[in-house]
Amino acid sequence: MRRKMAAGNWKMNGLSANLAEVAAMNDAAKESDCDVLLCVPATLISAIDDAAPDVVTGAQDCHQNVSGAHTGEISAEMICDAGAEYVILGHSERRADNGETDKCVHEKTNAAWAAGLKAIVCVGETLDQRKSQNTLDIIGGQLATSIPDLATGENLVVAYEPVWAIGTGLTPTTDQIGEVHDFIRMRLERRFGEGVGRSVRILYGGSMNPKNVSEIAVVSNVDGGLVGGASLRATDFIPIIKTLS
Ligand code: PGA
Repeated sequence: MRRKMAAGNWKMNGLSANLAEVAAMNDAAKESDCDVLLCVPATLISAIDDAAPDVVTGAQDCHQNVSGAHTGEISAEMICDAGAEYVILGHSERRADNGETDKCVHEKTNAAWAAGLKAIVCVGETLDQRKSQNTLDIIGGQLATSIPDLATGENLVVAYEPVWAIGTGLTPTTDQIGEVHDFIRMRLERRFGEGVGRSVRILYGGSMNPKNVSEIAVVSNVDGGLVGGASLRATDFIPIIKTLS
């Protein structure tokens, strides 16, 4: 049985003044039957880890190297040291803004695992790729190259995030989500064996909100959500946590 996960991705949002929102989320997390995770800017990891013991904290990126002359970067070990348990890797905004490739995501995932972090590896197609019916080829390629060989149900979560659904208010149909999640499950089982392949959680991300979460949550092989905008406020995120519980 895979435990559901409600994962928030705060992106470049959040100040210490927002910790009051997190206190309310923590109360919901305490009563929930799912894992509640907040992937926050590195500046907030330690404060949220202290203020919200029932919320698991995560980061949104890490560097692939252990240490060294990389001004402005943060290593996996530093994130872990600040109190994070998870790190999002290969988010489409980093792929677009920072030119991150599947190979780079692979290296970062290995770095995260070496530091004892769990990786949430993001995959997803653009609108052009979907329109030209390349979705499954794109996702298959991203999975094959981004995820290293030593994946387990403990150290890996996969997030399917169609690029065109992120921050747009658009979502795929439940049939489209199910098709991609079933495909990801099949590829994970084929590569890592049935045991591992069945234990890795697959999250849906892209404009998930309190209104659409209940129909997405019951789609085959959807084990939770990676939620951007709707994870910033307790009034939006708490109903999502409750639906996924
Ligand atoms: P969104 O973002 O929920 O605001 O669409 C999701 C994400 O990018 O992880």
